[in-house]
Parts: sequence; C-alpha cells; structure tokens
Amino acid sequence: MTISVTVDGTVTEAKTEERLVDLLNRTGTKIPQVCYHSQLGPIQTCDTCLVEADGELVRACATPVGAGMEISTKSARAMAGQREAFDRILGNHMLYCTVCDNNNGNCTIHNTTKMLAVEHQNIPFKPKPYEVDATNPFYRYDPDQCVLCGRCVEACQNVEVNETLSINWEDPNPRVLWDGGKPIGESSCVSCGHCVTVCPCNALMEKSMLGEAGYLSGMPKRLLNGMIDIIKGIEPDMGYGSIMKVSEAESAMRESRTRKTKTVCTYCGVGCSFEVWTKGRHILKVEPTVGPTNGISTCVKGKFGWDFVNSSDRLTTPLIREGDKFREASWEEALALVARRFTEIKAKNGSDALAFISSSKCTNEESYLMQKLARAVIGTNNMDNCSRYCQAPATQGLFRTVGYGGDSGSIRDIENADLVVIIGANPAEAHPVLATRVKQAHKLRGQKLIVADLRKHEMAERADLFFQPNPGTDIAWICAITRYILDNGLANVSFLDKWVNGLEEYKKSLEPFTMEFAAETCGLTVETLKNVAHMITDAKGVCILWAMGITQHSMGSDSSTAISNLLLVTGNYMRTGTGAYPLRGHNNVQGASDHGAMPNFLPGYQRVDDPEVRARFEAAWKVRLPSTKGLDNFEMIGAVHDGKLKALYLFGEEIALVDANSNHVQSALSKLDFFVAQDIFFSKTCQFANVIFPASPSLEKEGTFTSTERRIQRLYQALEPLAGSRPDWRIIQDLANHLGANWNYGHPSEIYREIASLTPLFAGVTYERLENFKSLQWPVAVDGTDQPLLYTKGFAFPDGKARLYPVAMSVPADPADEEFDLHLNNGRMLEHFHEGNLTYRSVGIREKVPDTFLEISPGLAKERGIQSGTWVQLISRYGKLRVRALVTDRVTGNNLYMPMNSSESPVNLLTSSHTDKITHTPAYKDNSVRMVVLPEIGESPLPRVNSRFGHPTPQKGVEVERKWRRPDYHMPGSQPTKFHTTKIRSNGDGD
Ligand code: SF4
Ligand code: SF4
Ligand code: SF4
Ligand code: FES
Repeated sequence: MTISVTVDGTVTEAKTEERLVDLLNRTGTKIPQVCYHSQLGPIQTCDTCLVEADGELVRACATPVGAGMEISTKSARAMAGQREAFDRILGNHMLYCTVCDNNNGNCTIHNTTKMLAVEHQNIPFKPKPYEVDATNPFYRYDPDQCVLCGRCVEACQNVEVNETLSINWEDPNPRVLWDGGKPIGESSCVSCGHCVTVCPCNALMEKSMLGEAGYLSGMPKRLLNGMIDIIKGIEPDMGYGSIMKVSEAESAMRESRTRKTKTVCTYCGVGCSFEVWTKGRHILKVEPTVGPTNGISTCVKGKFGWDFVNSSDRLTTPLIREGDKFREASWEEALALVARRFTEIKAKNGSDALAFISSSKCTNEESYLMQKLARAVIGTNNMDNCSRYCQAPATQGLFRTVGYGGDSGSIRDIENADLVVIIGANPAEAHPVLATRVKQAHKLRGQKLIVADLRKHEMAERADLFFQPNPGTDIAWICAITRYILDNGLANVSFLDKWVNGLEEYKKSLEPFTMEFAAETCGLTVETLKNVAHMITDAKGVCILWAMGITQHSMGSDSSTAISNLLLVTGNYMRTGTGAYPLRGHNNVQGASDHGAMPNFLPGYQRVDDPEVRARFEAAWKVRLPSTKGLDNFEMIGAVHDGKLKALYLFGEEIALVDANSNHVQSALSKLDFFVAQDIFFSKTCQFANVIFPASPSLEKEGTFTSTERRIQRLYQALEPLAGSRPDWRIIQDLANHLGANWNYGHPSEIYREIASLTPLFAGVTYERLENFKSLQWPVAVDGTDQPLLYTKGFAFPDGKARLYPVAMSVPADPADEEFDLHLNNGRMLEHFHEGNLTYRSVGIREKVPDTFLEISPGLAKERGIQSGTWVQLISRYGKLRVRALVTDRVTGNNLYMPMNSSESPVNLLTSSHTDKITHTPAYKDNSVRMVVLPEIGESPLPRVNSRFGHPTPQKGVEVERKWRRPDYHMPGSQPTKFHTTKIRSNGDGD
C-alpha cells in the first residue's frame, strides 16, 4: 500500500511503514546518514540524518513515514542538526583522504564531507588515548579514526552474532572494544570481517589494503605523517573543498588500476558472493555487498582466505612421471601422452577400464564437460564426484520421499522457521554464514533451536534444547518421535491426507521404534524425546538441517529418509519456514551432481538407463552412449584392487586423503596403470599420478557454481590464469580434442547453452539471467522462472504427492570393543577447509590454527593422564597416526573428535571402508580406535590466539541509549553551536 507525503514541498508516494531514510534514498533526496546501513537497520548513533517531520526534528533512519507527513530535509533547523552531528564525527576522525587507503570513492565520511560542503571543522579533531590494534592477522583497528558509529558493533552482535564487539559509551573516551577490552588477536573474534566490511571509514581496514590501495599511501610512515601534517596545515586557509579535489583526483586514478570483480566463494556450499578487489595479482580485499545469499556477510575463509591463489607453490607446468620422479613437460606432450594411453587402455581393456572423477570445487560447466568426456568420448559411465563422500545419502533420502535431491527452500526460509532442528551438523564452523542467519533469528526474533549432536559446538551452546545421542543412533530417536507424534494424534492429518502416500505401510514400519527403545539405544531420556516431539508439533514451521553427522554412517540414507518422513508427518513442507536442508559441503558439490558427474545420471538427474534420455543426448553429441550405471568412487577403488579398472582421470579432488581408509585408497592409486591428476597444487593425490595438469582456481576463470540453496551463480575472472596453468574446462576440452572429439567451446557460457538445451531442470538458465549478482534457484523453466521454495504446488512425483518411505533400525559399522574402546568422530573446523590444501597457505589462518588436534573430554584426559599438548597415538582397525591432544568439554566421555585439517596426520588413515548401504558413502563417523599416550608433551595444538579462548560480550546491539544517557550528549540542533576553526596536528599514525 502506498501513502502520500510531502518532501521539501513535493508530494511523493511512499510505502506504508517505509523508513524515512529509505524513502529519501529511493527518491534521490540526499541527506547525510553515516551510521545507517540498510542491512543493519537504524542504529541511531550518528544523528547526521536529522530532518524535520511535521515540525519536529527526527532521525530519518528511525522514523517511519506517515500519511500526509510534511518532511523538510533542508530547513535551517534540520541542516544545523545535520551539520552539528557531522562536526562531532569529524572531531573523531582526521581527514587525510589523499593518503588514505580508504579513499576509493565509497568512503562515507569523505562523501558526507563533500555532500555537506564542509570547508572547516567546527569541532577540533581530538586523538583518543589508545594505540592502533594490529593484533589480528587480517585487519587492524585505528581508534583515532573511529567515528563511533557502532556499525561494526551492530554487525558483530546482530548479523554475525559472534558478540565480540561493544562500545564503552560511559567512558570519557569511548572506543570499540573486543571482548570488553582485550587485544583483538586474543579475543573471541572469528575474523569473519563483518565489522571491517561495514565500517564507513578507515578505522577498521583489511591489512591487505594498507599501503597498497592508494598511490601515496604506501610511502614510509614518517613521510606519510609529514604529508598528513601538510594537508592539515593548509586546511584552515584553503578549506576542505580544495583539498578534497586533490584527493578525488587521486581516488579517480585508482579506478584505472583497481579491478573489482564479482565472484562466488570457493570454499563451502553456502554460496556467498562478493567483489574481489585486485591490483595486478595482489588481492586488495573481498567486499561483500548485495550477494543474494550473504549480503554483507562472509566468514574468515571467504573474506580473508585467498593467499593460496598467489602461493609460490602453484603448479605452472604439466608434469610427467619418470620412475620415482616427475619432469616438466609441455602441454602438447602431456596432452598427447594422456590421449595415447587412454586410447591404448580403451582398446585393450574396454571403455569401462577407465574412470573419471569430477571436482566439487570446480564449475558446473567443468563437471558437465568431464562427464561428457567420460560418456561421449571414452564411452563409460564410470563417473563420480565427491558428493559420494558426504551428500549422496541426503539426496537419496529426499529422492525417496519428496522427489528432488536438494534443499527444499532457501536460507530465507530457514530464517522464517519457528523452530530449527540441527542434527549432526556444525554450521557455525562448516557453514558459517548460514549459521549467522539462524543465530540472528534465535537472538532477535525468538526462533527456537534444537541441536542433536555428539559435540557441544557453538550452535549446541545456543540451543534451547541440546542432546547428545550415542554415535550412529539418530535413526532410532527420529523414528521414535515420529511414531509418538502419530500415536498421540499430533500428526498433521490434513497434510497427510492431501499430499502424502504410503501412510499405513509406513506406520507399520515404525512399530519397533518405541520411545523406550529409542531412549535406551540413544542414551537419552524419554522425557527429552517427548519434549522434542512436542516442540516440533507446537511450532508453526520447522526446518531440519543436517550434514555429515547423519550422512556419513552406514545407515546415512535411511537416517536422512527418516528426517524427511518426520517433516512429512508434521506437515513441514510446502511453505516458507519449513523443509529439509541437507547442508552441502563444498562450494559446488550440489552443482557437480546436478550436472551429471554421477555414475547413474546424465545432467539434471536424467537416468542413463532411460532410452529416451539417452536418445536426446546421443542426437546432440552425435555418439552412442553407454546405458548401464557406471562405478561410483567407492566401487572404483575396489575395481582397481580387483584389476578391472586400469586408468583414472581426476581433477580438483584430494582422494588420497579425503576418501575413507586412506591406506587402502592410496594402495589402489599406486596400482593404476595410468593415473592423471589435475590440480592447482602438488597434492598428496598427485604423488600417485603419471601425468599432472596444472589448473586454475576460481578467481582465474569464468563459470557457475550451485550452492546448497540450489542457487546458480556466476563467477567472473578476476585474474589471468597464472602463467603455465589453464582453467579446468580448457584442459578437459584440450584432452577431448586430442582424443578426436572436435569440441570448440570458446567460453563457459557456450557450454551452459548446451546444458540448458539438454536438461529440463536448467532449461531457462542463461548467463544473461545470471549477470553480476543475479542468481537462479533450480528448477528453472524456459522463461527463466525459478523456484526458491520447492514443492509449492506438489511434490516431484508423477501424482504430485510425497511418499513416506519405511526404514528399519540398523547399527553402526566398526563398533567399539575391548581393544578399540573409543569412538572417533571427525569433521570440519571454522578456519580450515577440509585437509587444508588451500587454507594452510594463508599465513593468518595458520596463525590461528597451525595444526590438527584431537579433542579429548576432561574426564577421559584425567583418567589417562593427558593434558592439552600431550602426544597420543591413535590406532584403528585400519591404520594409525600421531596427534596432539586438546582437552575440551566440547566432547564427553569416550568420544573423541579430530578435525580433518591435516595432510600429515589425516584422520582417514583411521577410517574404514564401511559405507552407507545404499549410496556407498563412507561411514567416516563409524570409527573405533584405541589411544596410546606417548611420553612427549608439546605446546597446546590450538594457540591462545584462537577465537575459542575468547570471552564474548553479548548485548542487544550497539546500545545507543547508553550514549544518549551521557551527560555531555544532547540532540544536535537542539542547542546553539559554537563555531570555530582549528589548526590540527597529525596524531602521528597514518595508514
Ligand atoms: S567476529 Fe571479529 S571480524 Fe567478525 S564482526 Fe566480530 S569483531 Fe569483526
Ligand atoms: S570502527 Fe566501528 S564504530 Fe568505528 S567507525 Fe568503524 S564501524 Fe564505526
Ligand atoms: S560461509 Fe562458506 S561460502 Fe560464505 S564466505 Fe564462508 S566459506 Fe565462503
Ligand atoms: S543515520 Fe540516522 S542516526 Fe545515523
């Protein structure tokens, strides 16, 4: 609904309840607004947005429009208020724009100085009695430049919800505090960068910008301070107008050498997008703004974890094995060799003696080409990707019950839930930006949170209800509460009647799952389980989030199915705030499967054994296609050991460390007749290769990624491929052409045109529709209509109805016994991605987490005489490794936890070859070990500078009311201002 208001004498249409500031911004009426940021909302700390509304002086950011409102932005009172407020800002900030690294056209303080035509400063700049804090490896805080707008505090408290920052408003010299006054590097700061991103000036800056962004800012500090003194010295005579002309000329010059390129994060499946600023190959910073998933949000990896791109150990030339060594080779020689060997092996052993593994770090177009190479050029369906290691069971559970193997809604739908249930997932570390949205909804909007996990991680600590089922028993409690809900008349009968098949048979399958059975099996109380059941049925909408704690068990598919069954029984599909959310791990693990890197599916989950589907692809590709399911990753390893699989081509995948039972996998790799690896670094997997192709990371190529929300997004090329390396899609095409394929793709958009033409799921996907920050969530109709929320009109089965799918109880593989008496859990951690091939190349991340470790409960540590830093040897039925202990109450009893971030002691030396029965996803989480305490005691493996050791200071936000209560505060414009001009000296610390 719209209403009429008058702005500076002109009648204007406004939206009901629209903020005045938004109306003014939308209609092009310029007013200052230093603390306002649309994604933070009104925090009301700066007072610069004062306007008169119906004769009263109000803050435009905090005032909703009202019908008939008379607004004056330029009345003498309003302008005096704005100017006085901004003078106070300048009293806290020294203007030295020409030599400032933040002088990039988007500095709020600079731009407001210009907008208000400030010539002289009425309140003198007063340095604050604090040192610059540069103790965080990624950013620094300069209190003297801090205008106390509190944007950073609001972002940390209420967007990231890490609750590290506050302002000591009552202090004579307020400043931003970390953990109430700790050095940044010793605080609970997780280096997500939200605060730096929203800072309106140079008070918080990325260290990678300092001395790099400006033409003059890189000069030696003494010289820089001299320059600042000169600029300040001439200000009283010349006024800011002339000085600013110089700084704007300098800023304009930067435009020609600073490139800002939109990209999508290469780490996890959340799908954050942002601009990356580069100067030559130097990465100046990552700037998140309007990404559809993340807005201003990032985690430490996306914001700061890009050092690997310019690492000196990038591969820059193809390598060919000669005996135990590799020698450099030309592209032509390496490609010709691979083509010759593939051809020979195919001729001698048949097409199915070769196999292909695609990368979930690489683009959709690259996965598409890899499976086309396997199927159309070689003639095999032996094609897989690493979703086999994590997500396949969740996909299976959804295929069985609701039809599509993807999240049933968006992160926005999770935010809208009344209740979020997280099972076997640690999103605060593995999907950090997604977790922020749950933390926000929980903190600010009363969303309820249940967490079921072996470990007490951050989300567990925040939960309204947290419980720890015995390892591998989730299926029991999930089925038991579903039965309880049905037995006690709590099910959503009308939803079941209208939308769901198979209720009777399903009910029968639940018979064994009594509450008592589940309580006994899971080590929980019946009361806890009833509580969970009632919280679910009382909630208006429930989203269930799960990840590897569910899928990486021998019953991963059945547990995932049980989750979806529970959602169906309670009617928690088909509307916002409901649904199933298996959290995808890698940036493009969803897309790799979607685009056909699977043994049984062509792109878009079209079955290889469907003649109609094959006929369509055969006509387009002009070949005959194999019709039977190929080998998955797990079967490939077995087939190598059996002598049936002779050659493997893999790109962007560290199979030697990330597949379970590493010793078994590595021995298979060494048995291959011919193995081709393609990577940006010489990985552990590369050690087994015959030929290695040097590839390019995401910043050096174009293409698309698909996030956990089924969101397809474009990445643009920020840097040229490092000399000698090539984008993966080019390498795959080059090899296909050496094998006689005659492909001629000039750009990834041409590949996508072909994908869309053959794949109904992506029929309407075009690069134009994905321009810049635009995105599409599949399925995408020909006209470009996408589906952020799935199942609004029915489920993806022919009759539109979902299916309750019976599952049975099963027990975990690799159980504990007298010899192997401890359970070893494993997973991700915030700072590192997986085994750390990329993140260990970041100096800052290494400072925070230099090594892997083993979490041991205080009770077990006491019993075995272990302290943090004690070396232990872990021995499983499959291997052994040495690792340092970290004593923590995140784990309890005989449960151990080891993050995967190590290539020297990878946890998969210990895991087994047991798998989920349906999908062959390794049962990484079913793992029993014994522990030998070694005599050596080292440093604690997690340094004190890790955020875990900090002490957050949660508060409601920036708490501006405390500022307003200061005796020296008055609303600007409400008292006469004393004007004066001051000559100001440098505080001696430039950037
Ligand atoms: S956690 Fe650290 S980097 Fe993130 S917003 Fe808070 S203070 Fe800033
Ligand atoms: S450091 Fe925080 S309070 Fe200071 S200017 Fe930047 S965002 Fe505002
Ligand atoms: S949450 Fe995931 S996608 Fe977002 S910045 Fe972090 S690693 Fe990247
Ligand atoms: S923008 Fe309104 S008070 Fe700062």
